[in-house]
Amino acid sequence: MADLAQLYGQHIKQLQQKAEQIIERAGLDGLAIHSGQPHRQFLDDMDYPFKCNPHFKAWAPLINHPHCWLLIEPNCKPKLYFYQPVDFWHKVESLPEAFWVEHFEISFVKNPTEISSYLPYDLENYAYIGEHIDVAGLLGFKHFNPEDVMNYFHYHRVTKSEYEIACLEKANEIAVKGHQAASAAFFLSASEYEINQQYLAAINHTENEVPYTSIIALNEHSAILHYMALERKVPAKLHSFLIDAGANFNGYAADITRTYAHDSGTFEDMIEVMHKQQLELMQGIKAGVSFVDLHLQMHQRIANMLLEFGLSTGQPEDLIELGVTKAFFPHGLGHMLGLQVHDAGGFLHDDKGTFVSSPDDHPFLRCSRTLQANQVITIEPGLYIIDSLLNGLSENAKKAVNWQQVDLLKPFGGIRIEDNIVVTATGHQNLTRKFGLNDG
Ligand code: GLY
Ligand code: MN
Ligand code: MN
Repeated sequence: MADLAQLYGQHIKQLQQKAEQIIERAGLDGLAIHSGQPHRQFLDDMDYPFKCNPHFKAWAPLINHPHCWLLIEPNCKPKLYFYQPVDFWHKVESLPEAFWVEHFEISFVKNPTEISSYLPYDLENYAYIGEHIDVAGLLGFKHFNPEDVMNYFHYHRVTKSEYEIACLEKANEIAVKGHQAASAAFFLSASEYEINQQYLAAINHTENEVPYTSIIALNEHSAILHYMALERKVPAKLHSFLIDAGANFNGYAADITRTYAHDSGTFEDMIEVMHKQQLELMQGIKAGVSFVDLHLQMHQRIANMLLEFGLSTGQPEDLIELGVTKAFFPHGLGHMLGLQVHDAGGFLHDDKGTFVSSPDDHPFLRCSRTLQANQVITIEPGLYIIDSLLNGLSENAKKAVNWQQVDLLKPFGGIRIEDNIVVTATGHQNLTRKFGLNDG
C-alpha cells in the first residue's frame, strides 16, 4: 500500500472536487467548516470533552482542536484557520508537523472572534457547516448546514477513499491490541473496570479518545445492549465476557466486538457457531448486495442457531414470522463506519437525499443501502437472553421458546461478534480479522 501521505494527497483532491461540485450545484461561493466549540458544564467553569465536527475532520485530522475553521472555495487551496490562543491555563495545541499541512493555506487565529476578520467580508453566499448556528449567525452567515450540501456529503462519505480505508485499517490494528489485552485480563479474573483499564493501556488512548464508550460486560451484563457501568467487583463465578470497544486513528473509528466463554460448554459452542455464521454470511458480501437482505439472511441463521442449541422448537420460518428471532437478535446487523462510529449516509440512496428507511419491522437497522466497493461497514450479529423481549412475545411465540434452555443460558448474557469490513467489487476485505482477532 502507498504511504499515508500519498494517499492523503489523493483524498484531499477528491474531497475538493466533490466540494466544488456541490458548491456549484447549490449556487454557493464556498463552505466554511467549523471544528466546533467546547460545551460548558451547567453551573461550572469546566467543559465537556470536545468532540469534533465530522465534516471538519474529513479534511484535516485535527480531532482535539475547537475554534478551528476551514474555508473551501472553488479553484483555491483549502484555507485552515488554526486556533492558537495565548493561554497559560491550558495546553495550547501547536500545528502538527504532519504530512497533511502542506495541502492547506494556514493562518493562525488567537481568539475565537478573530475569525470574522479572516472569513470573506460578504458571507451571503457561503454555507456554514457546523454545530454552532448562533455563532455563525453573528458572523453573518445566511446558510446553515443546507440540506442539499449535507445530503451530498453524507451520501458520498459512505464510499471511502484509499486514505480513509488505510486509517480505518490502522484503527482496527490498534483496537485489536486492546481486545487481546482485554481477553487476557478476563481469563485472569479481572473486573470490568480493570479490563477497561487494560484495554485503554494497550491501545494508548484516554477514555475521551476512544470513539465510543466501551462496553465491557461480564456474565449477564452482556445481554444489556448498551452496558457501560464498569463494575469494580469480580462476580463470584465467571461465565462470559462481551467486549465492544474501538480505537481512533486520525479521526476514523474501529468498532469491534468479541465474546468469550470462561469455560467450555454450550455457550462456548454457541460463540463458535456465531463466528461461523458471521463468516459465512460475509462470504455473500460484494458490490450490489442489499444490506437489508443481509440482515434478513442473518435472521435465518439465528433461527437455525436457536434450533441447534435447543432455545426454540419448530420451523425456522415460523420463528422469524412469530418474532422469536427478533427477541434474541433485536438490533441491526451493522452500519456504516468511518469518521463516526455510526457513520452518516446509511439511508441515502442518491446524493440529492433520497431517503429509504429500514423495513418497518426492523426499525433498528441503520442501513438500507445497496453495498458498493469501498464502503466500510460493520457486521455484528448477536444473540442474547433479554427477559423483557422474551416476555413480550405473543403467547403463540412463547410456545416456540424452550424456557428451560433460556434459564440455563441466562447467566451468560449474550453473544455479539463484530468485524469491520471493506466491500469490494467481488467480495470484501476484513479489517479486523487480518490482525489476528479471530474466534478468541
Ligand atoms: N459500538 C456500537 C455499535 O456496535 O454499533
Ligand atoms: Mn457497531
Ligand atoms: Mn460495536
